[in-house]
This record gives sequence, C-alpha cells and structure tokens, in this order.
Amino acid sequence: MKQLNIGILGATGAVGRQMLTVLQEQGFSPKDLRLFAGPRSAGSRLSAFGQEWTVEETDPARFQGLDLLLGAAENDIAKKYLPLAAEMGVQVVDNSSAFRLDPEVPLVIPEINPEDVKSAKGLIANPNCATIIALTAVGALHRYARIRRMIVSTYQAVSGAGKDGIDELLNQVTAMAEGTPLSQKVFQYPIAYNLIPQIGGFDELGYSSEEMKMQNEGRKMLHDDSLLVNCTCVRVPILRSHSESITLEFEKEITPEKARELLAEAPGVKLWDVPEEQKYPMPLLTSDQDLVYVGRIRRDLSAPKPLYDRSLSLFCCADQIRKGAATNAVQIAKLLFE
Ligand code: A2P
Repeated sequence: MKQLNIGILGATGAVGRQMLTVLQEQGFSPKDLRLFAGPRSAGSRLSAFGQEWTVEETDPARFQGLDLLLGAAENDIAKKYLPLAAEMGVQVVDNSSAFRLDPEVPLVIPEINPEDVKSAKGLIANPNCATIIALTAVGALHRYARIRRMIVSTYQAVSGAGKDGIDELLNQVTAMAEGTPLSQKVFQYPIAYNLIPQIGGFDELGYSSEEMKMQNEGRKMLHDDSLLVNCTCVRVPILRSHSESITLEFEKEITPEKARELLAEAPGVKLWDVPEEQKYPMPLLTSDQDLVYVGRIRRDLSAPKPLYDRSLSLFCCADQIRKGAATNAVQIAKLLFE
C-alpha cells in the first residue's frame, strides 16, 4: 500500500491506541503519523511502527497534508474537528455516532456494504460496535434468505465506555476484593459483579439510544427501511468482547445446516458451533482478535409453522475495541486507499 500521512483524533483512548496496532497489522506504513488528543495528553509518547510518537493537543492546522484521519474521540470532539478535516481534503473515518445517520455520510461494514464507500464526500462513519458485530454475524444469512426481523439481546463489555470504563471495572473488582469503598464515575451503578440494562438515554417508548442504533444503523447499511429490530442492550462486567443473542425471522426458508454452511465461508466470521464439544462463542475466547465468532445456531422453537422454517437463533461474540471499532475503521480506510 502507498505510504500515507495518517492522523488519529483521540489517539490516547482505548480505540485510538488499538487503531495504531491495527494499522500496522493491516499493512499501513505511514509517511507521517500525527496523534491528536486532549490537553491532558499533549506531550505524552505512544509507540507504533517501531518508533515513539509525541501526542499533540488537537489543532486543525495540523490536519493540513494528512491523507487519512481516523476519529476515535467522542461526539462533540468529532463534530468540532472532523468536518474541518474533510473540507481540507482529508479522508476521514469516524468512530463516533455524530455522523452515522447523516444521509450524506456512508456508514460501512466492509463485509456488508463495501460499495457504499464510493459515495463518500470526505467523511465515512464507523457503525456502533454492537451493530457491527451483529450484522457481520448475520450478513451471509441475510444475503441468502433476507432478514425481515431481528430480536437481539446484547451483553456489552465495559470497553464500550472507553478507557475509563475499563479502568472502572478493574478498580471496582480490586476494591471489592479488598473491601475498600468503590469509586464510580462512568456507569450509573457499580458494574463489578453486576449488569446494567441501560446504555444511553431512554426514548418515549422505553428503548435506550444504544438499542435504537441496531435498527437505525442496520436499516441504513442493509438499505432496507422495513427491517424490524427489537433490541435490549445490557452492560456486563466483561472487559472487551461483546456477546449477542440474536433471533432472526427471514423472508425465505433457511435451515440451521444451511446457515452453518454459509457462515463457514462468510468474511469476517468464524463459525464456532459444536455444542456437544462445548464449542460456542464466549467473550474471553474472542478477545483481542478481529473475527466475529458465531455459534449456538438453532431453530426458534417458539416460531409457529410456517414461520418456524424461516427462523433461527444464534449467539455471537467479538472484540468490541477491534472489530467493533478500530479494526472496522481501518478496514474502511483500506477500502479507500488500496
Ligand atoms: P485525552 O486522553 O487527552 O483525554 P476514550 O473514549 O477511551 O476515553 O478516549 C477518548 C479520546 O478522546 C482520548 O484520546 C482523549 O484524549 C481524546 N480527547 C479528549 N478531549 C479531546 C479534545 N479536546 N480533542 C481531541 N481529543 C480529545
């Protein structure tokens, strides 16, 4: 791949740091690398590509000359800086939710809708982590039998709340073991030995913002506004891999055997479905690697005939920081520059 001038906005966070590793793994070798963060990190050093790089406080003037800017900061920071970079001719791939539903901005999972990068006008959005993992898991099934309805329950790792979320779980586990007071800033309740059925604010129907992303972003990427999604998102005391239980209703008939055959060949997926040998996806098994593991594939016993023949349930897991964020963003960049 040709050498690029690459920037990362939010380089010191959980996703930003992972982007550095994934860029290297995916064959990028930057001519120049500019690492932007907030004032507290300015002057700190990060190592990547065999050398040390100094983190800079974000200054849009320093976007000049970049070929690619990866966004790994929160919405307000993304909104403040990334459109400026795109106007300066920089190709931007943003991991925040700020631009995901903007009709002018493609929202892309390379295994699902790679062709959408062609309509980009400087900015491409990286989808929500739980949505990336779910759609990568079911994409091959959708291409074969067309999904009409999805019922999803997520078990989401604390890494979805960034580096501070990871630190909060680790600190609370230690505090509980030592019997010292818990410090709690990121989550609404203690997350150690607990789970919290709220990610984001609730709407008037009682769904959280995280739950609605699965439907809204799913519809955009599958180009199907009739897709029906009922999602329940739960934060769990797991460090970095999201798990999801998904029940699917299809337009055409599909058997569990056919689903396994399709998923064995599906890009970005590892079929891991031998229940009698206790092989099924789990968060520890799927941490710090790029594939979405899929298993527990079976009929939906509750679906009445003839819907029974058009229904499946499955379980999937993938690393939230990698495929749910950094890896997907770098894969989009690869589509743009390769
Ligand atoms: P910093 O570490 O200096 O605060 P995470 O989601 O893992 O918490 O990461 C958030 C990222 O966004 C961090 O790299 C953080 O840098 C960065 N960030 C915070 N404030 C700004 C800002 N004003 N400009 C650019 N990046 C920022």
